[in-house]
Amino acid sequence: MKLIFLGAPGAGKGTIAAAVGKAQGMPQVSTGDLFREAVKNGTELGLRVKGIMERGELVPDELTIALVRERLGRRDTAGGYILDGFPRTIPQAEALAAFQRIDGVINFLCSEQVVVRRLSGRRVCRACGAIYHVENMPPHREGVCDRCGGELYIRDDDRLESIRNRLRVYREQTEPLIGYYRSRGLLHDIDSAGNVEDSLVQLKPLLQNLQQGT
Ligand code: AP5
Ligand code: MG
Repeated sequence: MKLIFLGAPGAGKGTIAAAVGKAQGMPQVSTGDLFREAVKNGTELGLRVKGIMERGELVPDELTIALVRERLGRRDTAGGYILDGFPRTIPQAEALAAFQRIDGVINFLCSEQVVVRRLSGRRVCRACGAIYHVENMPPHREGVCDRCGGELYIRDDDRLESIRNRLRVYREQTEPLIGYYRSRGLLHDIDSAGNVEDSLVQLKPLLQNLQQGT
C-alpha cells in the first residue's frame, strides 16, 4: 500500500505514521526527518536547508523531489510506504504522480489552536526520532527517551514564531492539495484532534478498504 499522510504541522502525521508503519511493517518516509538528518550530519543538503527549516519555510521543490525520488528508489519501499509530509505543493504532487501510483491520501484534520499547543510541547529523541509531548505523551523520565534512552530535544522550528509561519505556509501552499487529491478520488479525512487511539480507530477501516483495493 502506498499512502500519503497530509495535514498541518502538528496534526499528528509523524506520530500516527510511526505507529501504523510499525504495525504494518511499512517504512515511514518523512521528508522532515530526512532533512533533519542531513542537517545533523552537516551534509551539503543539510547546510542548504538548515535556515529554511528554522524559519518554517519550504525547501525548494527540486531538492525535495530529488530526495524523495532517491528514497523511493530503495528496495524497502517496493511493497509500500507512508509518505509523511510529502507532497506539500502541487508541483511536488505532480512530480510524484509521474513515477508512483498512490493508493490513498489520509488528510489529518485538526484546529490551529490544538496544533499550536501540540507543537509548543513536543519533544523528540535525538537518537531514534521518537516523538513525545510534555503533557499528552510524556516520557517516563523527563528528557529521556523511553525507547532507547536517548536525549529529548525541542525542534528548532517549534518556536512560536516559526510555528506561525509554518501554519501560514501550510494554508498557502499545502492546503490546495486537499482539493487536488479529493478531485482524484484519493482523499480520506480523519479527525485528528483527539488522542492517538481516536485517530487509529478511524484509520483502521480506511486502511482495510485500501488494502483490499490494492
Ligand atoms: P516536518 O518535519 O514534516 O514538519 P511539519 O509538517 O511541520 O509537521 P510536524 O512534524 O511538525 O507535525 P506532525 O503532523 O508530524 O505532528 P507530530 O506527530 O510530531 O517538516 C519540517 C520542515 O522540513 C518543513 O517546515 C520544511 O522546511 C521542510 N520540509 C519537509 N517536507 C517538505 C516538503 N515536502 N517540501 C518542502 N519542505 C519540506 O505531533 C506533534 C505533537 O503533538 C507531538 O508532541 C505529539 O506527541 C503530539 N501529538 C500527536 N498526535 C497527538 C494526539 N492525537 N493527541 C495528543 N497529542 C498528539
Ligand atoms: Mg512530523
